[in-house]
Amino acid sequence: MAETAKIIFDGQEFEYPVFTGSEGEKAIDISKLRGQTGLITLDPGYKNTGATKSAITFLDGENGILRYRGYSIEDLAEKADFLGVAYLLIYGELPNKEQYDNFVGGITRHTLVNEDMRKIFDGFPVNAHPMGVMSSLVSAMCGFYPELFDKSKEENIDHHIVRLMAKLPTLATWCYKKSQGHPINYPQNKLDYCSNFLHMMFALPVEDYHVDPVVASALNKLLILHADHEQNCSTSTVRLVGSSQANLYSSISAGISALWGPLHGGANQEVIEMLEAIKADGGNVKKYIDMAKDKNSNFRLMGFGHRVYKNFDPRARIIKKAADDVLEKLGVNDPILDIARGLEEAALKDDYFVSRKLYPNVDFYSGIIYRALGIPVNMFTVMFAIGRLPGWIAQWLELRNEGQAIGRPRQIYTGHTAREFVPIENR
Ligand code: CMC
Repeated sequence: MAETAKIIFDGQEFEYPVFTGSEGEKAIDISKLRGQTGLITLDPGYKNTGATKSAITFLDGENGILRYRGYSIEDLAEKADFLGVAYLLIYGELPNKEQYDNFVGGITRHTLVNEDMRKIFDGFPVNAHPMGVMSSLVSAMCGFYPELFDKSKEENIDHHIVRLMAKLPTLATWCYKKSQGHPINYPQNKLDYCSNFLHMMFALPVEDYHVDPVVASALNKLLILHADHEQNCSTSTVRLVGSSQANLYSSISAGISALWGPLHGGANQEVIEMLEAIKADGGNVKKYIDMAKDKNSNFRLMGFGHRVYKNFDPRARIIKKAADDVLEKLGVNDPILDIARGLEEAALKDDYFVSRKLYPNVDFYSGIIYRALGIPVNMFTVMFAIGRLPGWIAQWLELRNEGQAIGRPRQIYTGHTAREFVPIENR
């Protein structure tokens, strides 16, 4: 017999179906609750609200498990390449050779960006934050593809997916080049996705640039680790915007804006800035641990804690090891790595962090690798966005294919009750 949950309210009993997911997670389907009882549920921050069913990513925060379409993050980070993982997320299965070649070939052929986009880009001041620029440019992209708004050409969605995957790294490197006062580099289609990105970032017209395979492989791993994370803030934003049937570019642009915040993707930049500040302050780790625990200070240990991981973040484990490998292979001796290790060690022994289940998250060590790869701090969240793009696309597509209703939460009003208008001379 199907499971149900009962709610007793105002002396009456109401019964609601319990939905069970493929990994045994359970949810009460309350879609009829308001109609039957007049009640809504109140859950600020959506800490306990399932906004959708989804077959893309499984996350078990208590046991530190993350899987894309059933494949463990550990396996994918070790054995797959980023575009193969992107295909898996977006289309549901690992690609066979032909599917992979078509997908990668399409992305490779679309890396050039319309030259008119440069005029928009040129209008930004040199010190504009790249996340704001990226969000604006992705939003502007829909102006270049009017067929997007032609209902008879809906099958073209695969082209838009390819375009976004292809062009986002190109746009990202524009931001960096401008900040350096260097000419932008055009994509090199003979290079793979990560190598092409590194070439556009770091090559200069005056000398040869060879992509270091250690750097390309580390980047590939980082992008895979960031590729999806079920219904986080930016993904939920993409889905909410997409639920109004807004186009893919506008929905992704909104996701980039959501990711920018320091409590979400912006944390990787904040981690490095925090570690630098601790270093400049003499490396006194204890002082910062104490500050993070002090409820009168609004300082938080950036890169620590997670809304859903309450044991460990499996991505952080992979990244910590990758950071050690990459720094050793590149011969980089970064003193902030020692500060990071010291902070982690001290926090993991401290009752404040242990009792609140606060562990290093994906962003604690990712900034250290990005820095070793030569990526500047204000580009860290852009790197997160490049990695997260296939996840956003997959979630947007799932919502669209399932024809989900427009997202429209309710509220409990706590303002004034009805009152008379007061003319300005009487206020
Ligand atoms: N430093 C100090 N105290 C913390 C921290 C921290 N980093 N994170 C949480 N706490 C405390 C918080 O003060 C609260 O204490 P109390 O119960 O005494 O009031 C308790 O732990 C629970 O925190 P919360 O804010 O209710 O937890 P949340 O689930 O709403 O927040 C979080 C999750 C990630 C926003 C938060 O842990 C945080 O601000 N971390 C630092 C920012 C960060 O690293 N963000 C990156 C997240 S991973 C990348 C991504 O997926 O976006």
